[in-house]
Amino acid sequence: MKVVKIERSKAMEVIVAEHAGFCFGVTKAVEKVYEQIGKKDNIYTYGPIIHNETVVSDLEKKGVKVIGSEDELDDIKEGTIIIRSHGIKKDIYEKIQQKNLEYIDATCPFVKRIHKIVDEESQKGKTIIVVGSADHPEVEGIVSYANGPVFVIESPKEAAEFQIDQGTEICLVSQTTFNYNKFKETVEIFKSKGYNINIVNTICNATEERQTEAERIASQVDVMIVIGGAHSSNSRKLYEICSQKCARTYFIQTLDDLHLDNTKAVKLVGITAGASTPKNIIEEVQNYVRRSII
Ligand code: F3S
Repeated sequence: MKVVKIERSKAMEVIVAEHAGFCFGVTKAVEKVYEQIGKKDNIYTYGPIIHNETVVSDLEKKGVKVIGSEDELDDIKEGTIIIRSHGIKKDIYEKIQQKNLEYIDATCPFVKRIHKIVDEESQKGKTIIVVGSADHPEVEGIVSYANGPVFVIESPKEAAEFQIDQGTEICLVSQTTFNYNKFKETVEIFKSKGYNINIVNTICNATEERQTEAERIASQVDVMIVIGGAHSSNSRKLYEICSQKCARTYFIQTLDDLHLDNTKAVKLVGITAGASTPKNIIEEVQNYVRRSII
């Protein structure tokens, strides 16, 4: 990853977002994995428990293995599988149950709620629209709960291009970490088409608060730092939101990506972090920036 250089001045101040770092669902999921260490042999997570390489490699060092595919799951004969906070596909869930493997479901209740809505509404014959990134594991999981037609819409542009018979009954949900402003824009486009549509805003509160706060901070500062894993979609979205308000927004994974430099004045620095960024990384970055002010 590219190393970020920030030029500093002596009068520089730092604002750290209150809603930075682990959300409720991620905290619970990570805690559940750590709780099993030492109690059980052969602990697995289906996919990385969260999109943060530091946490995942720490868990690996402690013996927790990541199941990377369905084939790998097929090879597992014993052990405990922990299901990640953003959920898994229905057929994988069923396979784990059929194999009689012990499992701990750490799917966030907010994600579970979407699975339930999609399952029930599609059983009533509704077509499901999921606003989100089609290749994100959470969205793949949500889609798998549909019992009929289901579409993923990634952007307002795709919403504008979308066409379906006017009589179709639609239920629209969202990926929990989708960009709230883009969701509103997307919903307006669907409404303007006159469809028979039931809209359920399933963006979770933690995401909405985090994005609103990040946007507010980014609009005040000279430099904005977003900390998150390279594969963390909610961190990427934070970066996208902050970049629109602050041209000098930088995305870093850890402190190693950040270097303060002395050459030009920066008065105010903002820091936020995605839902899968551990507290200690935020603190390290914050301390480093603060130390550099003196
Ligand atoms: Fe759950 Fe929201 Fe976090 S859905 S995993 S609390 S981002």
